[in-house]
Amino acid sequence: MERTQVVVPAGEIERQRDFIRKTAQELARRGHPPLAVVDTYGCQQNVADSQRLMGMLRDMGCAFTQDPDAADVIVINTCAIRDNAEKKVFGVVGQLVHAKERNPELIICLCGCMAQQESVAKKIKASYRHVDLVFGPQALWKFPELLFETLQSRKRVFSIENVHGSIAEGLPVVRESGVKAWVSIMYGCNNFCSYCIVPYVRGRERSREPEDILAEVRQLAAEGYREITLLGQNVNSYGKDLERSMDFADLLAEIDKIPGDYLIRFMTSHPKDAGEKLFDTMARCSHVAKQLHLPVQSGNSRVLRVMNRGYTREQYLEKVRYARSVMPELTLTSDIIIGFPGETEAEAMDTVSLIEEVRYDALFTFIYSPRPGTPAAQMPDPASRAEKQVWFDRLLEAQNRISGELHRAYVGRTVRVLVDGECGDKRWPLSSRTNGGRLVHLDGGRDLIGQYVDADIVDSNTWALFGTLADSQRVPPCGDRPNSPHDHNAF
Ligand code: SAH
Ligand code: SF4
Ligand code: F3S
Repeated sequence: MERTQVVVPAGEIERQRDFIRKTAQELARRGHPPLAVVDTYGCQQNVADSQRLMGMLRDMGCAFTQDPDAADVIVINTCAIRDNAEKKVFGVVGQLVHAKERNPELIICLCGCMAQQESVAKKIKASYRHVDLVFGPQALWKFPELLFETLQSRKRVFSIENVHGSIAEGLPVVRESGVKAWVSIMYGCNNFCSYCIVPYVRGRERSREPEDILAEVRQLAAEGYREITLLGQNVNSYGKDLERSMDFADLLAEIDKIPGDYLIRFMTSHPKDAGEKLFDTMARCSHVAKQLHLPVQSGNSRVLRVMNRGYTREQYLEKVRYARSVMPELTLTSDIIIGFPGETEAEAMDTVSLIEEVRYDALFTFIYSPRPGTPAAQMPDPASRAEKQVWFDRLLEAQNRISGELHRAYVGRTVRVLVDGECGDKRWPLSSRTNGGRLVHLDGGRDLIGQYVDADIVDSNTWALFGTLADSQRVPPCGDRPNSPHDHNAF
């Protein structure tokens, strides 16, 4: 694929800015300040995309609301990863028919991964006639033009051409807080795991130019963002499509040189592309959090082969061993699918034995959901839902015990955390994260939000830690203070 075909030309982005201005004028004619709802489902990539959609809407003069009855524009950014994700969205969209009846001027837009599927577009066309605009993730940068066309023509607009996808730089953005920021570094996926819809809806892998990423991170660090998460369906495939030789580890090392009081996280890493170079770089770079989300999916090598994951159980375990040898304090999490077509009870129990062996800090667990159009959806699937549920419950039971044990080991230690928000609880009003990304509920005032503080961990449960403010406060992050007396292993 030629790089020149991938990047949206600057002139096109400028054209979209014109549409932002024209749409602002169109909305202003309504005689009141326009309001928008942006409702987001799915992964962090969608959260990041929604922040760009909000940036465009803000530049069209919109303020934001949660109330569909008050809105001029509603955007639903959808996820197609499992059947229940899709069902939920159809429920929400169905309900909006009433808001549209009350306010026929309302514009309802459906975008994201579901919208890229032809079958969904067909269903919306035929049965959800109150939806005005449908566009896939590949057309996100054209949102101003598509919305303007919808407003002007008063006709329904569908833009779901299944192109490979592109990279659009310079889109406006509304970030959720001044503390955490998402930075997409690559888009799409080439892996075609046999169960997964993502490669069909997100297009082929394409990496942003390192200069663009570095400029964005530099700006975020200068603006005082404390936690910057690099995003990609496969962040560590970064660079494979670039003309120059640069991989994800090289990019991390470059970002790490940017001065400032911030941590870098990244997700999601694919085990087949995660190797010694990446782990050595993580270990060396002081801005890089010692946290790894490394989805294994299954602990059985036959199932992994049919899933098309590109590694065996032993190869995966070897990678974990190496990563921990260079980062003993590493926090490790994973995704698991139970009940892949043809999986036997013994194979599912291999997954339970793998998690017992690895002892992840936390897991994201799913029961297999057939996705039409993927190879796995054609495979014989003899195990019943009830059987799969039994295996799933065993997995959860084991993981809850492990998470509980690992969390209990924090009690009595002092750890550095970033205070990132409020959680509405009287006893523990603040939420914060350790370097490894573990959630710590904390006492203290909201003036601490955005600060690194030391927390004495006094309690824990399966999902979180509980801490009180330690005496020494507002210390710089560990990376800038190599001789810190604090317990780095607890991060
Ligand atoms: N790119 C990431 C995963 C993105 S999808 C990776 O490869 O690790 C997030 C998770 O959803 C996957 O890791 C997988 O565990 C789960 N998932 C994907 N397709 C699924 C399906 N058809 N049924 C159930 N879970 C699925
Ligand atoms: Fe899906 Fe596999 Fe790509 Fe992850 S790597 S998005 S699971 S196809
Ligand atoms: Fe869902 Fe699309 Fe993310 S399918 S998980 S929102 S890439």
